[in-house]
Amino acid sequence: MTSTGVAETDGAAAGAAAMAAAADFRAAMRELAGGVTIITAAGPNGPRGLTATAVCSVSAEPPTLLVCVNRATEGHGAIDGAGSFCVNVTATEHRDLAEHFAGRGGLRGAERFLHGRWDTLATGAPVLADALAAFDCRVIQRLDWGTHTVFLGAVAATRIAAAERPALVYRGGAFHAAG
Ligand SMILES: Cc1cc2nc3c(=O)[nH]c(=O)nc-3n(C[C@H](O)[C@H](O)[C@H](O)COP(=O)(O)O)c2cc1C
Repeated sequence: MTSTGVAETDGAAAGAAAMAAAADFRAAMRELAGGVTIITAAGPNGPRGLTATAVCSVSAEPPTLLVCVNRATEGHGAIDGAGSFCVNVTATEHRDLAEHFAGRGGLRGAERFLHGRWDTLATGAPVLADALAAFDCRVIQRLDWGTHTVFLGAVAATRIAAAERPALVYRGGAFHAAG
């Protein structure tokens, strides 16, 4: 075999190993139950949003959270353009909405906001009126890693629903109720 052939074989093996590692990672992450949120932003081309579980508290003093958003999503460009975003925590009755904002009904861009009731708090990002909780954030840091960007958000305003309801969670590729 030529040296070029060896390099191609090595490259193919490394590619296959990386794909296997990604598949193992996805399979393991399916076991991690995640609270379902809808992350929204008032981008330069209008409101955009996506269903997301990659949301994490960072600190209470000062109130800060992080979200991980795929750079291929429309929501990513909207967050970048607006410099702000809102994390809307969903209840079980928001399941259809979560499907829409995951792109499963075929709705794109601002069309997704035809479902649900929306208003605003501090930044102008769309806030789901009956969310269990909403965190309206200004972007203070960002880190690109792999396919995603980690946005660190300083919480500018918080809203909590008056009535307690079961939360929508995602595990094993399916929606479930919690609480
Ligand atoms: C339960 C669930 C959780 C998701 N979590 C994330 C997430 O944390 N970050 C992300 O970038 N995409 C996540 N997605 C995928 C986005 O919702 C999906 O790609 C969406 O269509 C992006 O909007 P776009 O159509 O404008 O690209 C999730 C999807 C589902 C169903």
